[in-house]
This record gives sequence, C-alpha cells and structure tokens, in this order.
Amino acid sequence: MGYPISHSRSPVIHRLFALQTRENLQYELLQVSPEKLETAIRQFQRTGGKGLNITVPHKTEVTKLVDKISDRAATAGAVNTLSFRGGEVLGDNTDGIGLLRDLAVNLGVTIEGANILILGAGGATRGIVGPLLEMQPASLWIANRSLDKAQLLADRFSKTGPVSACRFNVVPVSTKYDLIINATSAGVHGEAPPYPSAAVSGSTFCYDLSYGLKPTPFCIWARESGAAQSVMGWGMLVEQAAESFNIWRGIRPDTAPVLKQMVIAA
Ligand code: ATR
Repeated sequence: MGYPISHSRSPVIHRLFALQTRENLQYELLQVSPEKLETAIRQFQRTGGKGLNITVPHKTEVTKLVDKISDRAATAGAVNTLSFRGGEVLGDNTDGIGLLRDLAVNLGVTIEGANILILGAGGATRGIVGPLLEMQPASLWIANRSLDKAQLLADRFSKTGPVSACRFNVVPVSTKYDLIINATSAGVHGEAPPYPSAAVSGSTFCYDLSYGLKPTPFCIWARESGAAQSVMGWGMLVEQAAESFNIWRGIRPDTAPVLKQMVIAA
C-alpha cells in the first residue's frame, strides 16, 4: 500500500521470490490515500490477506495502527511490513537490515570503523541510522538542508553511537568519508542539491537509497566528484523485500539472481 504506488517494482520481486521458493502467493499494488489507510488495512485483513508492505507516505502513520511493533521498527519510528497473526497486526521494518545486507554482503562495504556521511534527515534516514550505528562506525554525520531536522535525529540516536548533525555547506571535510549515503528525496524530483563535493575522495563509496532506470543525479554527482564507486539502491530494495518475504513465509529467498534480473531489466 502506498500513495502513489504504480511505480513500485515490488510485485516483480515477490513474483521472482515465489517462483524460486515454490511458494504460492499473490502480491499486488494497492493505491491507498492517507485518510483511507486504516480502513484499507482492516479490510485487507478481514478478507484473508496475510501481510502487507507499507510504503511512502504511510510508513510513520501506520505505526499507530499496529497491535505490536518490533524493536527495530519502533527505533526507526516507521513500519514497512505488516503481518497478521491470530487477529493481531504486527509491524516491522526491514529497510535498515536491507541496506546493511546490500552494503555488507552484496557490495563488500565494511561499516565497522567507517566514517559515514548521510545526506538528508527525513524518514529514510531515520530508518537507517540505528542499524548503521549498531555496526559501530567510527563516526556518522547527518547533513541536511535544514539543520533542525538533522539535529533532532542526531539527538534521538546519540546513545546508540557517535552521531552528529550539520548543514550541507559545513560538512567537516578533514575526515575521509568511507561511505556517503544519499537519503534525500531530491533526486526523485530530478534535483541535485549542493552536496559537499569536498567530502568525496578516491576511496569513498557512494550509495543512493533511490534507484532508477538511469543513474540518479546523486550517482552522477558522486562519479563527477571522484568517488571510488557509486551505486543505486536496487540491492536494498531486493534485500528488504527478502526480509519481508521471510517474515510472511518463513523462508528467505536467494536475492542474488533476483537482483541481477532487476538490474538487467533496469
Ligand atoms: P523521506 O521520508 O522519503 O525521507 P522526507 O521525510 O520528506 O522524505 O525527507 C526528505 C529529505 O530530503 C529531507 O531531508 C529533505 O530536506 P529538508 O529536511 O531540508 O526538507 C531532503 N530534500 C528533499 N528535497 C531536497 C532538495 N531539493 N535539496 C536538498 N534536500 C532535499
């Protein structure tokens, strides 16, 4: 469920998972406006639905509609996966683990001891800061157009690890960033904000949570700024889907062939 939803690739991913694991399932897109969210979830549950992915713009709002919430979803303040068990609605969040799996397993990026810079301080950032800090990076800066949102997030996670906030134009560049993650929604509108080019060095791995048919504005910026690599978030998309599939079906699909197919298809 999302609003809008027609762009979503999740039905293709889950169809490929179902074929691979021989699970019999139907996964469809449901466009649901914010005011109809609660009714739509209840109706889906009543008519025998087994689980839901919840996406933009509902991920925060849906936390109020669940009976139980996982620790990681509570920390993120956002839910992307619902499952229905014994009449109860359980809320979970697989975005953070999806990103970590893509970075660590698929791309070989080491988070422990890394200097990380996240661009943006919205819902996407809130979902990934906790899981990243748990991997014990050396530092994590959240840079945002407006400082107050970044500062709120840094305060929220300050007990979990070394996290700080700043504006784009004052990102400390004495640090060599190992990983820069774009979590702004700027690229969705085709914009490339004044990202801090001086933060990029030849050893920086750049990762865009957004993905598209063509390189995103952030990926183009990263390459032009001299990054070692720039990657779009197709892997996170497939990995978070695999985690959700596992919650619903108790079986974790092999993501590698599906990711290959998605990227080739893109
Ligand atoms: P999401 O839940 O997808 O993260 P969001 O909560 O609307 O979406 O957050 C969007 C993020 O992208 C914010 O950090 C926003 O910056 P502000 O907090 O300053 O609004 C950032 N963003 C969106 N468009 C941007 C642009 N053109 N330039 C810079 N930052 C942008």
